[in-house]
Amino acid sequence: MVSLLPYNTFGIDVAAQQVIEIKTTDDLLQVIKKDPDSPKLILGGGSNMLFRRDIDETVLINRIMGKELISKTNDSVTIAVGGGENWHELVLWSLQQGWYGLENLSLIPGTVGAAPIQNIGAYGVELKDYFAGLEAIDLTTGVSIFFDKSAMQFGYRDSLFKREWKGKALISKVYFKLSLTPNINISYGVIPKVLEAAGVDHPSPVDVSNAVVFIRKSKLPDPAVLGNAGSFFKNPELDAVYVEEKLLPQFPKMPQYPSEPGKIKVPAGWLIDQCGWKGQKLGSAGCYEKQALVLVNHGGASGSDVWKLAEAIQASVFSKFGVSLEPEVNLY
Ligand code: EPU
Repeated sequence: MVSLLPYNTFGIDVAAQQVIEIKTTDDLLQVIKKDPDSPKLILGGGSNMLFRRDIDETVLINRIMGKELISKTNDSVTIAVGGGENWHELVLWSLQQGWYGLENLSLIPGTVGAAPIQNIGAYGVELKDYFAGLEAIDLTTGVSIFFDKSAMQFGYRDSLFKREWKGKALISKVYFKLSLTPNINISYGVIPKVLEAAGVDHPSPVDVSNAVVFIRKSKLPDPAVLGNAGSFFKNPELDAVYVEEKLLPQFPKMPQYPSEPGKIKVPAGWLIDQCGWKGQKLGSAGCYEKQALVLVNHGGASGSDVWKLAEAIQASVFSKFGVSLEPEVNLY
């Protein structure tokens, strides 16, 4: 048995039968050939996972590396990046090359291969805005399949790989189309404030990246210090009529995000905060003191401890607001 403690940012100590690092597509093909029918669980950085049980599946750690320029036009580049590469290192590297677009997604924990699965997003940008396709290897046949942007069916923290293709393929390579000219997106309220405080009038993509790093560091706990998996729940997308007729009259200060027609997205962190959970603990699991949407492991919490807290939070939010919170992290 192998402990998965070093392989998940929540710091949960469960055991797995077997852990195999996949460094090349050949490594994966050999595993599949040897044991095509055994169930497999793929991990990248383990930064969006909550393990509530020991893992019987063979755990495959995606360590396929490489960053490659595929093509260049007058205004853009297309690059291919190994699924095992660290996400934030990719962001920094792309900025160094003068290839822009990923700066708002700075400092998101995890790997490149995991990023499209939940269409990572922050500060007004989502991965899908710069996504140009991916290659995934089917875990039963070993066949490599290309998925273009439309095939991915991206949504808010959602893609085909969270549904029909969940757990069925390892993402070996992701293609991005980045811009050679800066396209600054500082629509998200807090970024202009941070830039202004730093005395930056005409921000470059690197300035935006630095501002995002600053904001994330001030709000979100460092998993190396306090176990966590970022936002634990998704921000619920509610029926606009329910929000306008039932919630806003009672809670006029409730923040709102635009969403698809007929819907309003509300910050789960605000709802949880209003229920008094921020900074609270249940055993060794806690609701982070600076951002109520982040659940943390204060040391030695099991996955069930964290899940008990999550369920208690869901129950309070439902009873106060009539809103069901859905986990954003992957549960095992
Ligand atoms: N809020 C509170 N109390 C809290 C937390 C938040 O009142 O304890 C309020 C804030 O004041 C603000 C609103 O809720 O008005 C939104 O908060 P914030 O800007 O921190 O963003 P979020 O909606 O909680 C989302 C993403 C984050 C992403 C940020 C910035 C989801 C589930 N989370 O958080 O993504 O970094 O926006 O774009 O969509 C992640 O997915 O792991 C993640 C960290």
